[in-house]
Amino acid sequence: MSEPLVLGIETSCDETGVGIVRGHTLLAAGIALHDVDAVAVTNGPGLAGALLVGVAAAKALALGLGKPIYGVNHLASHVAVDQLEHGPLPEPCVAMLVSGGHSSLLRVSDVTGQDGGVDPMGQTIDDAAGEAFDKVARLLGLPFPGGPYIDKAAREGDSVFIDFPRGLTSRRDLERHRFDFSFSGLKTAVARWVEAKERAGEPVPVKDVAASFQEAVCDVLVRKALDAASSEGIEDLLIGGGVAANSRLRFLAEERAEKLGIRVRVPRPGLCTDNGAMVAALGAEMVARGRTPSSLDLPADSSLPVTEVLAG
Ligand code: KG4
Ligand code: ZN
Repeated sequence: MSEPLVLGIETSCDETGVGIVRGHTLLAAGIALHDVDAVAVTNGPGLAGALLVGVAAAKALALGLGKPIYGVNHLASHVAVDQLEHGPLPEPCVAMLVSGGHSSLLRVSDVTGQDGGVDPMGQTIDDAAGEAFDKVARLLGLPFPGGPYIDKAAREGDSVFIDFPRGLTSRRDLERHRFDFSFSGLKTAVARWVEAKERAGEPVPVKDVAASFQEAVCDVLVRKALDAASSEGIEDLLIGGGVAANSRLRFLAEERAEKLGIRVRVPRPGLCTDNGAMVAALGAEMVARGRTPSSLDLPADSSLPVTEVLAG
């Protein structure tokens, strides 16, 4: 039997994505709908109204085609998508998901979620990493979404020009928040620094501020992700979400991981941002591992916990 052909639908935020996957391969087009073996759809977490649109469409399609439906978790899909680029997932692995909406560290022993296979180790206690990039870009007069513009400006800036704070890294914070993140203090520190310059009537060195800010974010992200992997004796770190496109984050992660004997996997930028293929990739894994499909009345759940990977 050939590998399962799965159509995935992703509408958790403000985009609509559809992707088709066979096993671990992303297909461009050229398949007929009735060849699809299953339909997968993000049923949470996300914006309630947006999720409902995708779930309703997936149900109609599954019913019309007479094929099983899999309601899957958005965060686990960000992990599963890496299979389309790098082949079978190393399990267990630590996954760091960083985007405009989430920043989490997960221990993944089974991406389909069986037997506690997706276990949260830490998350942001305030802003998401991408949100911090977007807010600081605005302060610096850069366009939205700010991540790529900060990334570009930082390449010509001095990353040690300003020593911005590293959130939740003091010994005291580590006791309670070893694998959690906080970026709102950093954002405020950047705002104060920029305001002081402006008040003094001096030009703001945008490239240096961007580089110093980016260094603070990436330093903390990489430090905590590698600490999470080391603490679990895990040798594979996967980074996903829009911020995973950041060039400094990729470089720092690889440089520091190598010294610890940890391998780093980052999907290409087009697969890191929200898309339909990531949902199809997780759906294909559900089929391949023989998981029971969801019921046709599966609900959309805007606050779906990361541990609930497959809807009943
Ligand atoms: O995953 P995504 O497309 O959407 C969600 O937020 O779910 O992530 C978008 C976020 C934005 O905050 C954007 O600024 C950030 O990813 N981003 C980056 C880079 N490219 C996108 N942040 C830092 N460096 C980048 N190169
Ligand atoms: Zn996402």
